[in-house]
Amino acid sequence: MRVITFGTFDVLHIGHINILERSKALGNYLIVGVSSDELNFSKKKRFPVYSQDQRIKIIQSLKFVNEVFIEESLELKRHYLKTYSANILVMGDDWSSKFDEFKDICEVRYLERTPSISTTEIIEIVKKI
Ligand code: CTP
Repeated sequence: MRVITFGTFDVLHIGHINILERSKALGNYLIVGVSSDELNFSKKKRFPVYSQDQRIKIIQSLKFVNEVFIEESLELKRHYLKTYSANILVMGDDWSSKFDEFKDICEVRYLERTPSISTTEIIEIVKKI
């Protein structure tokens, strides 16, 4: 089974590792769409701390990740699901029900987020040090 998931994965933390590990466990081939710097800027009005090339290299080096690509646009989800022949789409439960429209072409699973950690929170903590 081919599993796909998406995210920024900036300033990698245990929540990222947990969701990628659990995504892989749902199948045997894990594809990760890492959002581009431009896509992040358009969403959050700031660039990620790590560039997209660095984020891709980091995610690609994880043992449970098989393939990585750049997610250029949020509007292209269906195209990516088809291009990568995904059987299961995994998202964190902060996105609960938001991707149900794709249930016609793949299984859609929302996994519980790891509590009490996020990239935004890490950046805030580091700023205060
Ligand atoms: N994620 C998770 N548990 C966390 C943080 C993130 O399971 N504590 C998951 C998200 O649900 C998503 C993936 O990791 O499926 C990538 O999330 P991303 O937005 O890159 O990470 P965040 O830490 O949430 O980043 P930010 O604070 O910038 O929103």
